[in-house]
Amino acid sequence: MKTRLLLPAVVLGLVAGCGHSENEAGETGAPPVGRPAKPAAATPAAAKKWTIGFSQVTESEPWRAVFDKQLEDEAAKHPEVTLIKQLANDKTENQKQQMSNLITQQVNAILISPKESAGLSSVVADAYDAGIPVFVLDRNVENDKYTSFIGADNVEIGRQAGQYAVKLLGGPGKAKGTYVEVWGGFGTKPSADRSRGFHEAVDQEPGMKKVGAKVDCDWKLEKAQNYMEGVLKLEPQIDLVYAHNDPMAKGARQAAEAVGRADKIRFLGIDGLPNEGVQWVKQGLLAATFLYPTPGVEGLKQALKKLNGESVPKKVTLATATITKDNADQFAK
Ligand code: FRU
Repeated sequence: MKTRLLLPAVVLGLVAGCGHSENEAGETGAPPVGRPAKPAAATPAAAKKWTIGFSQVTESEPWRAVFDKQLEDEAAKHPEVTLIKQLANDKTENQKQQMSNLITQQVNAILISPKESAGLSSVVADAYDAGIPVFVLDRNVENDKYTSFIGADNVEIGRQAGQYAVKLLGGPGKAKGTYVEVWGGFGTKPSADRSRGFHEAVDQEPGMKKVGAKVDCDWKLEKAQNYMEGVLKLEPQIDLVYAHNDPMAKGARQAAEAVGRADKIRFLGIDGLPNEGVQWVKQGLLAATFLYPTPGVEGLKQALKKLNGESVPKKVTLATATITKDNADQFAK
């Protein structure tokens, strides 16, 4: 793998007129960046070069740091791949601009993990319409103008978390207690789906009551901690916290620890990173976490399949699992 810096849009504008289109076999019309302008049949497969853009919302969260490292390690196994990584610093506007630059540059394929659905849907569609195969990872967009989506089923993850919450609070039909839901990003599919799945299970329990306002904690530990500090002041009785990721579950727990209430509350998170959520389960800080596999390696594999002329599925669903003290060792590596 080679890494390359993105040229400024003004330079790239010079080549913007010569877009390449994709035919049904998944081959591209004009010679893509970095590939010699020879007829495809005369080029041995091993000599093909691919420039792949990777637009990542942020690398500041642990799950994304692991995601990027795994993707880069996988790309390094492919000398024919040049990966152009673009970090959007958690801002939709940055990510849109970076995506536009990748389109202008006519990369051979794009992997994108969007900040949110609504704001990034049109630029993903622009790339797709420009004939660039686009692989949407983890957070989906709002239309189907992309090549393939790769991620876990967040409704199922939420459902498993809901069922586990019901079990912790007394079992189906008998569950009793109050719970707080700590939201990730309001504009993201994972948050909406994780909430929906959870409520499918817990809303059937008349004895379970939600407390705390619905607040966007944007997947961040500190925001969840602040939010939980407020909820703890208002609510004398909290039995369980369901956070849409492990860092926020940890933040909520820290707030409860600070006022001596952590031992009375069960905390559930999502992600299950071996060095993070899984360890917190082993240490008893979280009652459970739910595996949310990083999609980078699979994303690159699907992109290379497509570039090499194979068909790819519209959706690749990665497996999830409920991780508790009983099976945490299995997920610790
Ligand atoms: C990282 C993250 C994960 C979460 C995922 C949802 O940015 O917040 O913790 O599972 O994004 O898209």
